[in-house]
Amino acid sequence: MKGRIIEALRAGNGIVSGQELSRTLGVSRVSVWKHIRNLQKCGYPIAATAKGYRLSGALDALFPWEFRGRESRIHYFPEVTSTMEVAKEMARKGYPHFTVVIAGRQQQGRGRLRRVWLADEGGLYFTMVLRPPVPTALAPRINFLAALVLAKTLNHLYRIDAKVKWPNDILVDGKKIAGMLSEMEAESDRVTFINMGIGVNVNNDPSDREPAATSLKKIFAKEFSRKTLLIDFLDAFESRLESLSLDAVIAEWKRYTLTLGRFVKIVTIRETVEGIAEDVDENGALLLRLEDGSIKKIVSGDCFQ
Ligand code: BTN
Repeated sequence: MKGRIIEALRAGNGIVSGQELSRTLGVSRVSVWKHIRNLQKCGYPIAATAKGYRLSGALDALFPWEFRGRESRIHYFPEVTSTMEVAKEMARKGYPHFTVVIAGRQQQGRGRLRRVWLADEGGLYFTMVLRPPVPTALAPRINFLAALVLAKTLNHLYRIDAKVKWPNDILVDGKKIAGMLSEMEAESDRVTFINMGIGVNVNNDPSDREPAATSLKKIFAKEFSRKTLLIDFLDAFESRLESLSLDAVIAEWKRYTLTLGRFVKIVTIRETVEGIAEDVDENGALLLRLEDGSIKKIVSGDCFQ
């Protein structure tokens, strides 16, 4: 109902009377009024006048009812420790494929390799619970697919040149605009769930504390709708995932990466190695040519280039 009221107010583009809302939505005027009160409490700038209700501005809201067709699988929290923690609990309780946990901000946002992910108000922070019917060996390709789809979505929506840095960072002009973290649980070599957490710097600006980071707001000096970005990403990613044609993912990812052919430093939990990033194999492992000419295969790590 909240979604339908917001839609009616947006479509009305002016004052919409309580009577009209009650008629089109098939509920009493008192019920309309109660929903309006709740929406106001959620932060929607709705003015109540003698002639009716008016939406007096935009709110970049990420409530479930803003995601038509996905309402039951979207879970929004104004503040959490980390969406990874919330999503893990939900995945273990059996929440369905493509459940999405979104946070307005995170107190303990987590990055890869046990780093902290700065997650102030204004950024887009979410974790998807995915249950793809694939063997665990194919799981990394799903991470590469997500990075690829996110880079393409950013490029398409904002006309920028977002590139992927191995394994899943998204960079614009060499600065990090988005990162991804995934956690998997499996049984008998089949994926039970992959929780994929994504942070995009949209209307936040972490660059004062992270000089190697950027955000859409920093690039364009204006704010953008996180909802539009999230809807476009989820739609594109879900349809690619449904087709399950994971064979071509790495080849397509290579067209969007700026890692290959470069001299890079790779930091893993155990070691630091340097060399030329020669290729990425069919499962996303980096093939690094070392100084002595040998090839070292690196399955996970962080890349500095
Ligand atoms: C990285 O680049 O190191 C990965 C960053 C992942 C950040 C996202 S924000 C949503 C989700 N919740 C977290 O705590 N981390 C991921």
